[in-house]
Amino acid sequence: MNTKKLIAAGIFTLITISIMNAQKKPHLDKTKPIEERIDLLMKQMTIEEKVGQMNQYNGFWEVTGPAPKEGNAELKYKHLRDGLVGSMLSVRGVKEVKAVQKIAVEETRLGIPLIIGFDVIHGYKTLSPIPLAEAASWDMDAIKKSAQVAAAEASAVGINWTFGPNVDVSHEARWGRVMEGAGEDAYLGSKVAIARVTGFQGDTKADLAKVNTIAACAKHFAAYGFAEAGREYNTVDISNSRLYNEVLPPFHAAAEAGVRTFMNSFNILNGIPATGNSFLQRDILKGKWNFDGFVVSDWASVREMIAHGFAKDGAEATQKAVTAGSDMDMESYLYVAELANLVKSGKVKESLVDDAVRRILRVKFELGLFDDPYKYCDEKREKATIGSKANNDGVLDMAKKSIVLLKNEKNLLPLQKIGQKIALIGALANDKNSPLGSWRIASDDNTAVSVLEGMQQYKGNELTFEKGADLTVGKTAFVEELVFNTTDKSGFEAARKVAASADVVVMVLGEHGFQSGEGRSRTNLDLPGVQQELLEEIYKVNPNIVLVLNNGRPLALPWAAAHIPAIVEAWHLGTQTGNAVAQVLYGDYNPSGKLPMSFPRNVGQCPIYYNNYSTGRPTNGEGNVFWSHYTDVEKTPQFPFGFGLSYTTFDYKNLRINKAAFAKGESVVVSVEVTNSGNYDGKEVVQLYIHDDAASLARPVKELKGFELITLKKGETKTVTLTLTDKELGFFDNDGNYLVEPGTFKIMVGGSSDKGLESGFEIK
Ligand code: BGC
Repeated sequence: MNTKKLIAAGIFTLITISIMNAQKKPHLDKTKPIEERIDLLMKQMTIEEKVGQMNQYNGFWEVTGPAPKEGNAELKYKHLRDGLVGSMLSVRGVKEVKAVQKIAVEETRLGIPLIIGFDVIHGYKTLSPIPLAEAASWDMDAIKKSAQVAAAEASAVGINWTFGPNVDVSHEARWGRVMEGAGEDAYLGSKVAIARVTGFQGDTKADLAKVNTIAACAKHFAAYGFAEAGREYNTVDISNSRLYNEVLPPFHAAAEAGVRTFMNSFNILNGIPATGNSFLQRDILKGKWNFDGFVVSDWASVREMIAHGFAKDGAEATQKAVTAGSDMDMESYLYVAELANLVKSGKVKESLVDDAVRRILRVKFELGLFDDPYKYCDEKREKATIGSKANNDGVLDMAKKSIVLLKNEKNLLPLQKIGQKIALIGALANDKNSPLGSWRIASDDNTAVSVLEGMQQYKGNELTFEKGADLTVGKTAFVEELVFNTTDKSGFEAARKVAASADVVVMVLGEHGFQSGEGRSRTNLDLPGVQQELLEEIYKVNPNIVLVLNNGRPLALPWAAAHIPAIVEAWHLGTQTGNAVAQVLYGDYNPSGKLPMSFPRNVGQCPIYYNNYSTGRPTNGEGNVFWSHYTDVEKTPQFPFGFGLSYTTFDYKNLRINKAAFAKGESVVVSVEVTNSGNYDGKEVVQLYIHDDAASLARPVKELKGFELITLKKGETKTVTLTLTDKELGFFDNDGNYLVEPGTFKIMVGGSSDKGLESGFEIK
């Protein structure tokens, strides 16, 4: 046979095999609509196989939570072969994913592919800034691109589902997981949620089937960020109005942007664990919002309902979780053990199981896993994508945009590029691990560009490094607690010496990357260890200090705010940290970030947030003590939400509203002129806040309802127009009804939540 004939024969055989397969497995027929394919598949499934789809196991090595005693590799492999596993998490790498996928597809009766989940929280191997830092950019295009980079890397190693974005609004700097979200505000949080969801998944459902996109997961549903006193996993007890107005909007935005999965949360909400919460999962998510993807539990959160005192045993926990709409059990080992029996005994309706399975299969079909279960398993692509130059350029761009300039007196910044003696002090300046931040399961330790390495690239100055003091004692490992807070001050003298003879001192201080994140709540928000002392000692010999902060949460630094002339908030910026920081310090990038969370003056102010309520005694009009305040510290934050400086200055003028009074449903068009009045080209985030003067439920003193990131050359003026519609002007009452009420509104427009130009209008 000649080659042509051979090819033709090959094609013929392939077609015949696929027709035969389609007859044997009619759900593999790509020409049929997805819902029909699901019907065809589900008709063949036993109750055990259905339950299997609702069962998710961790891979065989990594753990991101306590490992349940039921879990062992032998049992997992057995269940996998028996078709009792629908998903795995934390399996990674083409080889590894292919191996488990092969078992699911080729060794089980129905060959249903696994959906492979992973915590791609701020990148896979090439890490972008922690999500809180990214939110500080207020740059939705950049955030979307950053999620695209993460999706490109994750999908190249076999992963097709990320457990992100975390869209938990939180007012609690003490809570370690604020590093994972977008901060304290629901409006900004909603915009970030949309950027991240579309970055991971693409803009349309069809994009999900592309090989470089992955399914996203809005988590943690819901109100996890309101844990009392910021203590991890703690009780949440909040009003429905707060739930509807502050907690749910970013989830709703994610759902509207097409997010394919939700994860519920560890906490109880007003007495009911989120995992067993029908009101959240059935009434709101799957009811009101018509969400047709699936809900995964958080790690062992089904079983934890026993510890919460909400279920007496595993069977009851399973019954309550499934009834409440938790579709997939992550690592509780309960659905697989209990659910089939609960259905057989009539305690759980099979229709509920069917609904859950349909949702899970739907996402698998949408990803294209039935059409090619190995589509994400291409070793060539894996090699070409991971750590590529393009990905590094992408995360560097995001890192620069995430930096917030908090103070810049005496024009200490940007640094001059030549002829300067610079002392670089602080163990974090020479740390290649900490800047990677928390949640970096797939990254290799010590792979960040350190600040020292970044600054060394500017060769016109004389740079000397001294650590001054260590931050950590003990070894760096992902799940282990690090031993922080060394008391050793033996390095102070050397640091003092280099500082004394320097023109400028750059001090990199703050939290280690593992001092925030899951399980890392703190009751102090100061500089850990002896860093504060080091700062004050260096200040005595040279006050020309640029303080570069590394942290995963707002810190309380009243002394630094009062004394240190220049402060740069540099968070944990990921793989390209040192390059980003150096470019900002040397003025090759003019910082434009704005805080997504208020920074308190001290921890006793927490929770502190800009969109608080007035109280009946907001000011000390009478000059007496009986007004809402503290006697030992001002009630305002040290650095407010929305605040951030630039090397240039921006002037606002001519704030205008298109009319004085509006009917409900009309658009309120607000415009303002912004001028770059300084000496550098720069970017500014123009922010619009509203206040509803009197309403049937008291409204916050201020609420962000619009913003635009603009670029202005020096001397340039732009008119920025922001529009308010019913979507921005109303609020939810305690029953979840959305109301736009007549009355007067104030507006404020400026470059921060604490001041701006003011005006007002009326809704008739
Ligand atoms: C976290 C989730 C995460 C899951 C899987 C849990 O401990 O709360 O956010 O996705 O582990 O790693």
